[in-house]
Amino acid sequence: MSHNLLKGKKGIIFGALDHQSIAWKTAESVHAQGGQVVLTNAPVAMRMGTINELGEKINAPVIPADATSLTDLENLIDQAMEHFGGKLDFVLHSIGMSVNVRKGKHYTALNHDWMTKGWDVSAVSFHKLMQTLYGKDAMNEWGSIVALTYIAAQRTFPNYNDMADNKAYLESIARSFGYYMGKDKKVRVNTISQSPTLTTAGQGVKGLDGFLTYASKTSPLGNATAKECADYTVMMFSDFTKKVTMQNLFHDGGFSTTGVSQEVIDSLQ
Ligand SMILES: NC(=O)c1ccc[n+]([C@@H]2O[C@H](COP(=O)([O-])OP(=O)(O)OC[C@H]3O[C@@H](n4cnc5c(N)ncnc54)[C@H](O)[C@@H]3O)[C@@H](O)[C@H]2O)c1
Repeated sequence: MSHNLLKGKKGIIFGALDHQSIAWKTAESVHAQGGQVVLTNAPVAMRMGTINELGEKINAPVIPADATSLTDLENLIDQAMEHFGGKLDFVLHSIGMSVNVRKGKHYTALNHDWMTKGWDVSAVSFHKLMQTLYGKDAMNEWGSIVALTYIAAQRTFPNYNDMADNKAYLESIARSFGYYMGKDKKVRVNTISQSPTLTTAGQGVKGLDGFLTYASKTSPLGNATAKECADYTVMMFSDFTKKVTMQNLFHDGGFSTTGVSQEVIDSLQ
C-alpha cells in the first residue's frame, strides 16, 4: 500500500545485485512510495547480477561505480544530480564484501591484504561516499543517509569473520561523519542493523542457516525480512524521522536485547 511517503524525493541506492538483495527490495519500496531512484553497483556486479531488470521495472537509470573509487563516486553523484536536475534527498549504502569470508580463511589465520580490501569495500567506502557527497554539497537539507550493518559489530559470532570488524568501523564512520553532515548540511546519517537475511552476501557466511534459525528462535518477533528492512529504510528516508541521526538502529525482531528465549533453552535440553 502506498502512502507516497517519499513523494518528490530523489536518491541513490547502492548494492542491488539480484532480487534477494536488501537494496533491490529497498529500491522497489522507495519507488512504491513515490521516490525516484538512481541505481548503482560495482562494474563486476553488472555482469553477475540482474540490476538492469530492476532499473527497467522502476524506471531508474543504472550507473556503474566501484564504491572504493573516488573517481567513480564523483562521476556517479554528478550524473545522478544531472539526471534529477538537482540535489539528493536520500542515499542507501548496501555494500559488503570480505575476501577472507569468500575464500574460507579462518579469523585466526587471515590474509591481511584481503582484510584491507574487505575493509575498504565494506566500511571505508561509506566514508568515501559521504566525503564526496559533502564536498559536492550534493544533499538537500533534511536528507537522509543509511548504511546497512549487522550485530556482529557489537557481539561475537563465529564465522562472521573480519566482516564483524568492518561493520564496527562502518558504524563508527556513521557517527563521526553524521556529526558534520548534521552540523553543516542538516543531513542525518544512521546505520540499520538487520537480522540475518538470505541474500548472496548472507550466503557467503559459513553456517548462515544456523544463524538464521538461532536468531529467529531468539527474537520475540522473529527475524526481519529483506522487505521489512526496505520498509524501515523508507521510513528513515521519510520526513517522519528528521531528527534521528548518528544512531545504530536495530531492526531485528528484538534479538539484540533478548538474552535467551524459552525455545532456545528447550532446544538444548
Ligand atoms: N544478508 C544478511 O544477513 C545481512 C544482515 C545484516 C546486514 N547486511 C548488510 O546488508 C548489505 C547488503 O547485503 P545483502 O545481504 O543485500 O547482499 P547482496 O550480496 O545482495 O549485496 C551486497 C552488495 O555489495 C555490492 N558490492 C560489493 N563490492 C562492491 C564495490 N566495490 N562497489 C560497490 N558495490 C559493491 C555487491 O555487488 C552487492 O550488490 C551489506 O552491507 C550487508 O553486510 C546483510
